[in-house]
Amino acid sequence: MRVCVLMRLRRAKVCSAARRTGEGGEEMKKVVYSAVQPTSQLTLGNYLGAVNNWLKLQQDESKERIFAVADLHSLTIRREAREVRENTLSLLAQFLAFGLDEKRNIIYVQSHVPAHTQLAWILNCYTYVGEMSRMTQFKDKSAKHADNVNMGLMDYPVLMAADILLYDTDLVPVGVDQVQHLEIARDIAIRFNNIYGETFKVPEALLGRAGAKIMSLTDPTAKMSKSDPNPMGRINVLDSEADIVKKFKRAVTDSESVIAYDPEKKPGVSNLLAILAAAKGTIPEQEAGECEGLMYGHLKLRAAEAVSAMLRPVRERYEALIKDEGYLLEVAREGAEKAAAIAEKTLKRAGAAVGLLQG
Ligand code: TYM
Repeated sequence: MRVCVLMRLRRAKVCSAARRTGEGGEEMKKVVYSAVQPTSQLTLGNYLGAVNNWLKLQQDESKERIFAVADLHSLTIRREAREVRENTLSLLAQFLAFGLDEKRNIIYVQSHVPAHTQLAWILNCYTYVGEMSRMTQFKDKSAKHADNVNMGLMDYPVLMAADILLYDTDLVPVGVDQVQHLEIARDIAIRFNNIYGETFKVPEALLGRAGAKIMSLTDPTAKMSKSDPNPMGRINVLDSEADIVKKFKRAVTDSESVIAYDPEKKPGVSNLLAILAAAKGTIPEQEAGECEGLMYGHLKLRAAEAVSAMLRPVRERYEALIKDEGYLLEVAREGAEKAAAIAEKTLKRAGAAVGLLQG
């Protein structure tokens, strides 16, 4: 038993040392990993909660950045095959239109790297049904899609854990709604490492200061969501300026008329301030100060203008990119090649740890 523990410790040291430095002994860059499901257009919530932080990280040369279109995750809700394909291409084009540079980041489609589902299977065997059934998103989605509570819906956090752990990820920039999934990824990694020695790096969530939880414009107690049946509740990143203004004008506020940042007592107004701040790169309290003495209508217009200005160039770039399917497929192919080279090493390490015969 003692030997076994010692061996485990020794192996852990070798493993972590190997991953702290590159093959030539140079210091390794920190890895940032994130992904989005290709379910129709991204919302302003996705953009401000996640993508905005990806763009900031793109400037940081001390980090390696990997961003995926999580197409396998999107199969957990029943969709037409044509829709899955179109959404995947559209999300790739949106990534590039946002300004993510395929030369400076690895950008790929999850299903193009088979190691994701292979590692997910291994991790499944170290994850308990009880912990999966307690996940908030599983409970919410099972209630919403009661006619299709499939195994994928329940297993979704394990696939997400595999996504993250395959790349020895340090940081995962996400919105607040994904923090529970990230915690389970950490739990699975720690559980596995405790049994087999340090195999996986334990990742951390990276939340933005502003925009980590953007709420619906029609119900500011619920998050802005791609699947909200009321289209007035969400801004899509490719919405026309007229639609953006119309949706902000109809946003729910409250019966008072004082502009103040207080998410508990004034959720609607605070959400508008959070959106305005995240779009301008400031903080909501500052925007509240600058709106002193103004009416709610002014705040709505300010938010609409800031969001329109932020999304205008994205929409223009998208229009050109989506017409060039050949280019999008090429970006995906090159990205998958680079991603697979990293992922396969981790998959091998995990397979060897549990005793799978190495060919
Ligand atoms: P998804 O596609 O639902 O959302 C993508 C990102 O957008 C963030 N987000 C929000 N942030 C602020 N306010 C909102 N209203 C809002 N709505 C969504 C989410 O937190 C997320 O960061 N399972 C993931 C995709 C995924 C993934 C991964 C993420 C698959 N594998 C590995 C990170 C790492 C998902 O469905 O996100």
